[in-house]
Amino acid sequence: MISADLTGKRSIVSGGASGIGLGVTRAFAENGSTVAIADLPGERLSGTVHTLQAEGLDVFEAPCDLRDNDSVVAMVEAASERMGGIDYLLNIAGHPVTLQTIPASDLESQTEELWAEALSINLLSAFRTAKAAAPYLTEARGAIVNTASMSGWRGGGSSSPYSVAKGGLITLTKELARGLAPEVRVNAISPSYVHPDSTNFPIRWATVFEDSESLPLGRPGTAAEYADACLFLCAGASYITGQTIHVDGGWSA
Ligand SMILES: NC(=O)c1ccc[n+]([C@@H]2O[C@H](COP(=O)([O-])OP(=O)(O)OC[C@H]3O[C@@H](n4cnc5c(N)ncnc54)[C@H](O)[C@@H]3O)[C@@H](O)[C@H]2O)c1
Repeated sequence: MISADLTGKRSIVSGGASGIGLGVTRAFAENGSTVAIADLPGERLSGTVHTLQAEGLDVFEAPCDLRDNDSVVAMVEAASERMGGIDYLLNIAGHPVTLQTIPASDLESQTEELWAEALSINLLSAFRTAKAAAPYLTEARGAIVNTASMSGWRGGGSSSPYSVAKGGLITLTKELARGLAPEVRVNAISPSYVHPDSTNFPIRWATVFEDSESLPLGRPGTAAEYADACLFLCAGASYITGQTIHVDGGWSA
């Protein structure tokens, strides 16, 4: 597990109430950062904040719906005001939008509504938060980490709209890296299989263990292993921007 001195740092973690985002929230808070947990309002968010605060971690609720730009702007403004600025933006939230896999051959099921929803939560959400946080990140000379997917690199995700949104996120990462340089570094991480115990992702692959046996590392990754890469990209990696790191157990090797 990587450690870094994040004392005095101010982070927003989207999707931080569960799964990979919770692992990232925990890692950043345990290393000294204040963390605004940007997630849908409700019991999941308040329960996570309550649990982490009881452990002595400096986290707070930043309720929002990442599909709505006004909601994102209000969340970022409130979080920045409370923390006195923003150093790191961790865009972890995403959603498959469908509850069952849609094969790429099933064009009929790929409706306009499905495309709009998949692009909104998996691609535009990251642009919305980056746009709202950009002035604060620029002032702090901070960093952004986006969450792509191996399906954004090669296709083959739970649906074509999901894969395309994640592919777009890899390109958005390069565009933001150019657009916000030199003050703000922007990178992405692509996970492959994440251990089902550490995520609430609505599509669960029944074959996750079987599939990950064929990986060079022979097992699914954990949220904590993903968080390690986030710590590296934010607290170190001072000459790295516009890149997508594959935290995939060797899936792409
Ligand atoms: N789990 C995997 O195996 C896997 C593989 C590849 C990529 N990913 C990506 O990793 C990221 C995290 O996935 P996870 O497995 O931790 O999922 P998860 O469902 O456990 O966590 C996602 C979080 O995002 C929040 N969220 C969803 N929609 C939101 C909205 N509209 N506004 C605000 N918050 C919202 C949820 O409430 C939840 O807390 C996603 O971007 C996903 O696409 C996951």
